[in-house]
Amino acid sequence: MIDLSSKSALVTGGGRGIGKEIAMALAKAGCDVAISDIDLQTAQATASELEGLGRKSLAIKGDVSNAADVEAMFASFIEKFGKIDILVNNAGITRDGLLVRMKEADWDLVLNVNLKSAFLCCREAARPMMKARGGKIINIASVVGLMGNAGQANYSASKAGLIGLTKTLAREFASRSINVNAVAPGFIRTAMTDKLTDAEKGKLTGQIPMQTLGSPLDVANAVLFLSSSLSDYITGQVLTVDGGLVM
Ligand SMILES: NC(=O)c1ccc[n+]([C@@H]2O[C@H](COP(=O)([O-])OP(=O)(O)OC[C@H]3O[C@@H](n4cnc5c(N)ncnc54)[C@H](O)[C@@H]3O)[C@@H](O)[C@H]2O)c1
Repeated sequence: MIDLSSKSALVTGGGRGIGKEIAMALAKAGCDVAISDIDLQTAQATASELEGLGRKSLAIKGDVSNAADVEAMFASFIEKFGKIDILVNNAGITRDGLLVRMKEADWDLVLNVNLKSAFLCCREAARPMMKARGGKIINIASVVGLMGNAGQANYSASKAGLIGLTKTLAREFASRSINVNAVAPGFIRTAMTDKLTDAEKGKLTGQIPMQTLGSPLDVANAVLFLSSSLSDYITGQVLTVDGGLVM
């Protein structure tokens, strides 16, 4: 049984979807969890649910790609929780299109929200974690960062970049007992995949050895493991949660 009581975590983009499921899983293990999201309403709704579980929580509005917002986000987090044990860089977006038609603005937006955000958040979390000589950072990447995906040049590049960032920070922080790992989900049932037609879903599941899409809970369970002492000797790894799609 994983026990995260007396730990505090920040989950970016935790208002809905996979981020919300991660926040709930951490809270159920006893962790106090703050939610940061660009959408304050969903962040507040998730924070109330976490408080309903008896945990301390906080909803923070902020754009993770904006340095001033990230600085303010961490200042409010530390003011309320005093320390940061776990950082989950989950906020992410897509702006899909084939390369020849991809707008520069869509390239920049996806790289900033999915990759620059993790640089900014890790930079803020690093100092208090180094001082405490411990911490867990989990970056939510994607299998397309490992295998590429036609129509997602910006998104795949951002997730591949996130994997490079993960491995580099794992090396930089290892001597301070700060573990940095990535979780790479495959196709997960969320608002994003709900939009697909049955034919598209059939085509997707045909490529997955386990023949089914994953759930946000499947991803949250992997994050829970990487947030806990069970993974103390694991760093710089990419844990795919994809029903065997990439192996
Ligand atoms: N759904 C999948 O199948 C899948 C597969 C692989 C990886 N992922 C990754 O998992 C993560 C979560 O995905 P999801 O499907 O739950 O997405 P989602 O769109 O349901 O949730 C993303 C959350 O991030 C927030 N957000 C967006 N831009 C932000 C910004 N600039 N600043 C702060 N918050 C912001 C949104 O408001 C939302 O609450 C993403 O990083 C995504 O790339 C998802």
